[in-house]
Amino acid sequence: MKINVVKGTRDLGPKETARFQEIIDKLDSISYFYCFTEVTLPIIEHAQLYKRSVGETSDIVRKEMYAFEDKGKRLLVLRPEFTASIVRTFVNNKIHALIDLPFKVHYHGPIFRYERPQAGRYRQFYQYGVESIGVNSPLIDAEVITYGYAALSFIGIENVILKINTLGDDDSRNKYREIISEYFQKHIHKMCHDCNERLQTNPLRILDCKIPSDQEIIKKAPKIHDYLSLASRERFNEVTKLLDQSDIPFEIDQTLVRGLDYYSEIVFEYHYYSDEGKTLGALGAGGHYSHLVKELGGPDLPGVGLSFGVDRLVEVLKEIEEDDNEEDYNSFVLFYLIPVGDVKIEDVYDVLMELRKQGGYSYDMYHEKKPLKTLIQKAKKRDARFLIFIGEDELKNNTLTIKNMKTEEQMVVNRQDAKQVIRSLFFSSMREG
Ligand code: HAM
Repeated sequence: MKINVVKGTRDLGPKETARFQEIIDKLDSISYFYCFTEVTLPIIEHAQLYKRSVGETSDIVRKEMYAFEDKGKRLLVLRPEFTASIVRTFVNNKIHALIDLPFKVHYHGPIFRYERPQAGRYRQFYQYGVESIGVNSPLIDAEVITYGYAALSFIGIENVILKINTLGDDDSRNKYREIISEYFQKHIHKMCHDCNERLQTNPLRILDCKIPSDQEIIKKAPKIHDYLSLASRERFNEVTKLLDQSDIPFEIDQTLVRGLDYYSEIVFEYHYYSDEGKTLGALGAGGHYSHLVKELGGPDLPGVGLSFGVDRLVEVLKEIEEDDNEEDYNSFVLFYLIPVGDVKIEDVYDVLMELRKQGGYSYDMYHEKKPLKTLIQKAKKRDARFLIFIGEDELKNNTLTIKNMKTEEQMVVNRQDAKQVIRSLFFSSMREG
């Protein structure tokens, strides 16, 4: 019986896996330049962590968590995001007392959300992100936004549209929530089911609705910037000034409210549109969180961070580079060993192990006896650059016969010299291309 992959999840072949790895390597080097250090956290967490952070009224907690009871009757979830876990580790390990703040980390790994799968939206996807916790400065907000912009450019994604907004401090947001609830009360009978629900749970999220008829109503809604406290307005102006000074282009989007409840002050998203105007949704997003550390039992310290959706980065890069989607499931090999004549396959296996011990390059063979012609075909299918023939003579004289598949040149090499010869063959093959 054939068993399908779970809906919303994907198998990544070798080529796709290499693309992910390449992006992660590049993001790692940007993280290094910005002095973020790497942490690795569990994939399963207590459900309570997200109720207290992402929020009971968020879509993630209400509808999207992969939650289950373990054998010890604990209610656990496959993590639906990273930020809460990072703050949890900050609090649990009392990091504020151990280091000179800010606590600057980067992380990557799989994330799980029970969403409706579509292009660029999966139920298991991969995030890479950074958080800076412990110092309350608009300079750090600007630095994290700049990190994201620089990272996208470094991996090869230009023409990014950076959308930013501020949700203000508690007073500004509470006042605005009242004003906007009052406004939407008057129109809600004409609006979609989700908007009706959000009016009860989290009215600000109505601004996120993408339904065209609702958009008309949303456009005319009161704007958050008219209800900001002086401190929040100044903070937002300071961040935008810093972005201007760093030549980071941005758009202020007053409908950007984000779907996770822990944000206050600045929030932002990075978007990319194809030439035909198509988008996969945000490539990455983040914002400032004033109370999350305290909410999770720690000191009253703020944080700011962002996470990229690596699956979306891969998709966009494939489009930019016009890469075909064809997978190559062959495993790469540089030197392919072939038994010749009546030699025992075990003797060739011994040579294979000896060569591998020397390290440096990839060696392989076929582990069953086959005719010479078949073995050469197999080596060609693997795109092997060199064949190493081992027959009676080679075993008796302690030699290897090596053939360059590109130039067709063949040479006999003493086994004790093999390491050096193979090294020079590798470099000459690099020059040959
Ligand atoms: P988020 O906006 O929920 O924020 O997710 C961040 C990114 O993950 C999105 O911009 C998108 O690229 C990607 N993403 C989200 N859902 C999916 C999906 N179903 N399939 C593929 N990719 C997806 C957060 O998770 C916050 N923790 C970001 C943050 C960090 N805020 C502060 N620090």
